[in-house]
Amino acid sequence: MSRITDLNIDDIKDSDLLKGFDFDNYDDGDRERWKALLDGVQQAQKGVACDAYINGMARLGENFSELPNLKELNDKLERLTGWRVMAVNGLLPCEDFYKLLSRKIFPSATFVRDWHAQAFTGYPDIFHDVVGHLPLFFDKKFSDFVSKSSGVIYEILKNTPDGSAEKEILIQNFSRYGWFTWEAGLIKENGTARAYGGAILSSSGETENLKERGYDEFDLQEVFNQSYTDKEFSCRYFIIDSYDDLFASLEAIKTKYGVDKSIN
Ligand SMILES: [Fe+2]
Repeated sequence: MSRITDLNIDDIKDSDLLKGFDFDNYDDGDRERWKALLDGVQQAQKGVACDAYINGMARLGENFSELPNLKELNDKLERLTGWRVMAVNGLLPCEDFYKLLSRKIFPSATFVRDWHAQAFTGYPDIFHDVVGHLPLFFDKKFSDFVSKSSGVIYEILKNTPDGSAEKEILIQNFSRYGWFTWEAGLIKENGTARAYGGAILSSSGETENLKERGYDEFDLQEVFNQSYTDKEFSCRYFIIDSYDDLFASLEAIKTKYGVDKSIN
């Protein structure tokens, strides 16, 4: 498996994307755990998943009843959306993560979480990355937000000195921004709240937590101020009226941090 830190992101070749990935390395245990995860999530998603997710799943032509082969998914994704998957074996340095996304490369884990982590994992596995996130990339507007916001965030981080207190705060704010949008985000559809966040869409436990906690209107400054931990279900959820709200928040970020308006 590629360790992202071994690669020069500016010079990633197509052959690097799934380097070392071998679908034959999965065993029966992996396939059983995948099916158990899917059983729980499919029930939980009913009445919760947003239209873009449902439509994306249909366009992907998958119900994920079997552990998917990333190579086949990658071919389909690139052909239909221009996005590609990169197999990685760990969390990435944050600037690399944003840079990859800005180039429409989605880093995905390849392992299937263990039985003890079925209800909750703070560490993304292939189920979270593929079932939680990939269908949304078929929505042009949403996927444009992911790539454009990542490009802007990368520019801001790149131009801030490493190790400075300012950079620490920026990294914290942008991780909160990512968490409360593409991981735990909600959108209004026909007067009801639906999930577009991958952490919700890949976890029956997160969905239950959402139903218990409720949600608040999305507000960028409130998101920046709201701490969270990846050790438990989300402490809060924020809802947008449409994906236009995300682009509006991105413009506010450009203004706040003095980013050239032409950068996206
Ligand atoms: Fe995620």
